Amino acid sequence: MLNFTYNIPTKIIFGKDELERLPKEILLHGKRVLFLYGKDSIKKTGLYDKIVTLLNDKNIFFKELSGVKPNPSISSVREGIRIIKENDLDFILAVGGGSVIDCAKAISAGVGYTGDPWDFLIGKAKVRNVLPIGSILTLAATGSEMNGGAVISNEETQEKLAFGHPLLVPAFTFEDPTLTFTVSKYQTAAGATDIVSHLLEQYFTSHNDEGLPDRLTEAMMINVINYAKTAILEPDNYDARANLMWTSSLALNNLVTYGKKHGDWASHGIEHEVSAIYDITHGAGLAILFPNVLKYYLDKDIEESLPLTKFLNLGKNVFNVASSDDKAAAYETIEKLRAFFNSLDMPSKLQEENVDASKIDIMAKGAARNGTLGYYHMIGEKDVLEILKNSL
Ligand code: NZQ
Ligand code: ZN
Repeated sequence: MLNFTYNIPTKIIFGKDELERLPKEILLHGKRVLFLYGKDSIKKTGLYDKIVTLLNDKNIFFKELSGVKPNPSISSVREGIRIIKENDLDFILAVGGGSVIDCAKAISAGVGYTGDPWDFLIGKAKVRNVLPIGSILTLAATGSEMNGGAVISNEETQEKLAFGHPLLVPAFTFEDPTLTFTVSKYQTAAGATDIVSHLLEQYFTSHNDEGLPDRLTEAMMINVINYAKTAILEPDNYDARANLMWTSSLALNNLVTYGKKHGDWASHGIEHEVSAIYDITHGAGLAILFPNVLKYYLDKDIEESLPLTKFLNLGKNVFNVASSDDKAAAYETIEKLRAFFNSLDMPSKLQEENVDASKIDIMAKGAARNGTLGYYHMIGEKDVLEILKNSL
């Protein structure tokens, strides 16, 4: 294992009937709150009313910003910054899935900056002064509730870019699995796909590890595979929802990369280009692309930079692949991964998401805007184009 510093500062308040603690947790960090949420799911579930009552009971001043969209837009970020400045707010409460929490992070970074917040996404501005964030998670998927990353879309430029900073890690997150009972089958499946994809991105490193980081990652994948279908078939199955929720956080909070090199993240890089233009659901895009990226690596004989052992361990330990021929076992592993996504009714072709060939050159260019893609720089624009063609 490589050297590392363990530091995951988000306080997780896990389980049902804990929300009464919300005012106390907020008051540890601020007094005047921006209450940020999405379209209407929190109003339908009654969560909105509960939060408003809790804040009012403790006389906590708040202003609301609603309508944060899936694939959150920079315009919501700008609006959030405006409301905070106008009302002298000092805390952001993000209630929703990854989109709302990501939007909160970009607002938090942007409040102390005089330029346009898009500058953070294009690397023109550095994160310095931030407002603290607390979140109430309502969808298990991104891990944003316990990490410092954010992904923001810009409709004008048709870009979807990521940025992050340790200062943007939420101070606390409430994780009540019952809040996810109302998540649709489709979003539950997309969330489970996203969790597995995060684990895979961090699994496929050139660091050939027979110890804890890879074994932890495999255990989490098995857990998602075991519980995803149950959560879809029985939306109010507490154990299934609880396991998906906690795994979503642990899958992308650095825990599984401590002790190893960074992950690959090429599949995410390509997916963000697709959803930047077509506004598709992140997890659905990953279900299509991830198996094809892995297959491309394998076709290209990646052994030198990415050990075949990774595929074999994944096959053996997660997907029960038993073939004695190594290459055949590796391909079978990829097919089992695809079959898992399909078993959740996730798509396996871009056409199913109404994405055709007309813009794949733009997407390939975008994915490779910094030269090569992924931490191991194994693929460039031409390779991405090929992967996208294979995914049509
Ligand atoms: O807007 P509302 O009405 O709340 O509806 C949302 C939204 O339509 C709905 N939803 C959320 N909780 C619900 C619910 N519906 C019923 N009951 C509930 N309890 O679900 C829809 C999708 O929500 P969203 O927040 O977009 O989903 P998700 O959590 O999957 O977030 C996706 C975004 O996160 C980014 C993605 O690219 C995408 O933009 N990512 C962020 C990452 C990070 N910060 O670390 C990493 C990821 O790889 C990812 O890129
Ligand atoms: Zn993701």
